[in-house]
Amino acid sequence: MNNQTKIKIAPSILSADFSRMGEEVQSLEQNGADLVHCDVMDGVFVNNITFGIKMIQDIRKCTKLPLDCHLMIVNPEKYVERFAKAGADIITVHYEASKENLRETLELIKSTGVKCGAVINPDTPVEKIADVIPLCDMVLVMSVFPGFGGQKFIPDALGKLRQVRKIIEASGKAIDLQIDGGVTLDNVEEIKAAGANVIVAGSAVFNAPDRAKTLAALKK
Ligand code: DX5
Ligand code: ZN
Repeated sequence: MNNQTKIKIAPSILSADFSRMGEEVQSLEQNGADLVHCDVMDGVFVNNITFGIKMIQDIRKCTKLPLDCHLMIVNPEKYVERFAKAGADIITVHYEASKENLRETLELIKSTGVKCGAVINPDTPVEKIADVIPLCDMVLVMSVFPGFGGQKFIPDALGKLRQVRKIIEASGKAIDLQIDGGVTLDNVEEIKAAGANVIVAGSAVFNAPDRAKTLAALKK
């Protein structure tokens, strides 16, 4: 890892109190988060529904932190421009939702001036996205099947992180490597050792008795 790949913590607001979202996001900023991870779910690509463009627009007014929008929706290309306009700083799209259109969708995201990223589910091999990795600002390896917070980390993700990290190093580019799902204080060390530098944590942050301490411990 070079020094451009510093550790960043991206708490997932999926575990926040949605009735107090503004305060929740501000508390993340005050307690040392680096990004706000926004899980957008459509009830079709995944078996859950969260929020969409309006939420991103409103959160944008509450924080200066970059908004990391993880789109778990079908036909993400239809909504990319609106998420960008709403204030997303980075938009990540699933290989499983885009398949052969993934490259095109990533280019579309870039054309809006927003950073782009490709995501793979636990049952998708790294090879499926290998050719588009150099195009990405970030690669997201899912360590749970997307849909819900509070699931258990799938250890196979560690091997995939190592594999993606190798591809990133070979590209010579400063591409972030993100992990999402089941991250805790107990497994974050091995996750970082496997090459992840952007750590999503939902329940670990929002259920913690002391948010600042937990964020600092995840980052250290
Ligand atoms: C899962 C989401 C994750 C989730 C992480 O579909 O993409 O971002 O909120 O939550 P934890 O950290 O609780 O596994
Ligand atoms: Zn997510």
